[in-house]
Amino acid sequence: MANATSPTPDTLPAWQALERHAEVHRQRHVSRLFDEDQNNQRFTRFSRRVAGLTLDLSKQRWDGDTLTHLLALAREAGVPDAIDGLLSGRRVNTSEDRPALHTALRLPADATLNVEGEDVVAEVHQSLEQMAALVERLHAGQWRGATGKPIQRVINLGVGGSDLGPQMVTHALADFTPAAIHPLKVHFASTMDGSQLVDYLSRLDPETTLFVLSSKSFTTVDTLTNAETARDWLLSRLTRQGATPISPELVIRQHFIGVSASPERMTRWGIAPAHQLRFWEWVGGRYSLWGTIGLPIALVIGMANFRRLLAGAHAMDDHFARTPLGDNAPVMLALAGIWNVNFLDIRAHSILPYDGRLEYFSAYLEQLEMESNGKSVTRDGAFANYATCPVLWGQLGPNAQHAFYQLLHQGTQPVECDFIAPLSRYDDVEDRDTRRLLQSQHRLTLANCFAQSRLLMLGDDAIADDTPRPAHKRYRGNQPSTTVLLDRLTPETLGSLIALYEHKVFVQATIWGINPFDQWGVELGKRIAGQTQQMLEGDVASDGMDASTRGLMDAFRASVEQP
Ligand code: F6P
Repeated sequence: MANATSPTPDTLPAWQALERHAEVHRQRHVSRLFDEDQNNQRFTRFSRRVAGLTLDLSKQRWDGDTLTHLLALAREAGVPDAIDGLLSGRRVNTSEDRPALHTALRLPADATLNVEGEDVVAEVHQSLEQMAALVERLHAGQWRGATGKPIQRVINLGVGGSDLGPQMVTHALADFTPAAIHPLKVHFASTMDGSQLVDYLSRLDPETTLFVLSSKSFTTVDTLTNAETARDWLLSRLTRQGATPISPELVIRQHFIGVSASPERMTRWGIAPAHQLRFWEWVGGRYSLWGTIGLPIALVIGMANFRRLLAGAHAMDDHFARTPLGDNAPVMLALAGIWNVNFLDIRAHSILPYDGRLEYFSAYLEQLEMESNGKSVTRDGAFANYATCPVLWGQLGPNAQHAFYQLLHQGTQPVECDFIAPLSRYDDVEDRDTRRLLQSQHRLTLANCFAQSRLLMLGDDAIADDTPRPAHKRYRGNQPSTTVLLDRLTPETLGSLIALYEHKVFVQATIWGINPFDQWGVELGKRIAGQTQQMLEGDVASDGMDASTRGLMDAFRASVEQP
């Protein structure tokens, strides 16, 4: 792990060897690497199997020598020690002086992890038990609103890590909803403008609606603003119901659960202590779906399946902890990214799941990767004189084929792509005819997935056709990609997939010498937004503003004056 005297990665011998290696390699087309591989061993050599996942890195623009140099870089950058530090609870989040222990959230109950004198595992399982009790009451239809009716709708109010992870997983695993639970629907509202929330408020019944206020800090204005609107909506509709007035305290008690690392702020807001789920400062927001922030997940798939999700992630943690670097899936994935970003100058990365259930996976990864590694200052406070996190974006692959694949195939921008797909699908559909049709759609989808990564790699060589074609119909290929296949999309494989990416991010951060667990780059915007709001409200003069911002504010004021 980097310390006060850590060299920056670009001064390490392996980095310099990679720069020399890249001089030659940059010119080589990936299709030549397959041609030169006489025994057809690239897949065997560059793919790994772990925890229900197959990771194929053979379409990366690298060879055995590249990997040897990259593994040397990982060792010189101290990756093995960094992994140990992360998993054992060292204070790896240096700017906030605390550990980053999301892996502790998925340790089995019989494990032990003492961090600075505390048995973390016992605390974690206690909080899971508390969450399980709330989930059970809601599933049994025993949680009643202030007027006595059982809760039927739950709206998660949170943003960033308190929204993206739970939303992504609940959608991905919606087919795992146990049949024998009280029919409960879970929704998400995150945007500060209220546009998502208002959709629910206009059609839901306040008597049977419960809100989960999810916010690690419990200071996030987006979430608190939505929470206030929700509270007013409930109070105005429920306190004056029927002959006997209902107290505001009862309404808030029965219609709000809080999930936060700040019990004091939850209490101040009015959340009843029995309805507070807590977690710890040492869990980063974007790494928090594994604990109480995962309440919406447990409500949708049940606690047993939630524990399967944790078990899948733990299997990946175990692999990450014990496997030599060259066979370590998160390390290999990270090294492919380092090679692309720092030595092949590929600064865009697209995430392309080939399964509608993974619709929100790329949005989730955008936060995980870019909020973690979108940084230009090292742990030592030096300016990083090399590229770090690429621009990452994505969309369901089949739909993106009809949107931005044009750029991937014929644009001027080199892009690394991750293709993600389950191997088996729909084997649990009972009706035979429907199963047959859906499985045929699944084969079509996989065929598209495999065809697209092949075409991106080979370009025109993907078709055996020598007919001359005009330039606008040519494909140059040479776009590197990784394919991740899940045996099936289950709680376990989804858990290991997410953990794979979490650890990839950590390994890259270690090599780049940056701290992936803070996010100082989002703070100033919040402060300035507060000041700007005061100006918009007319409480503070906007004289000192730049001409552009003043012009925009004037436009707003004019619109208010003349609707
Ligand atoms: O503003 C960024 C951020 O702090 C993210 O890191 C976090 O996931 C999100 O806001 C929500 O924060 P909280 O859970 O504290 O409301």
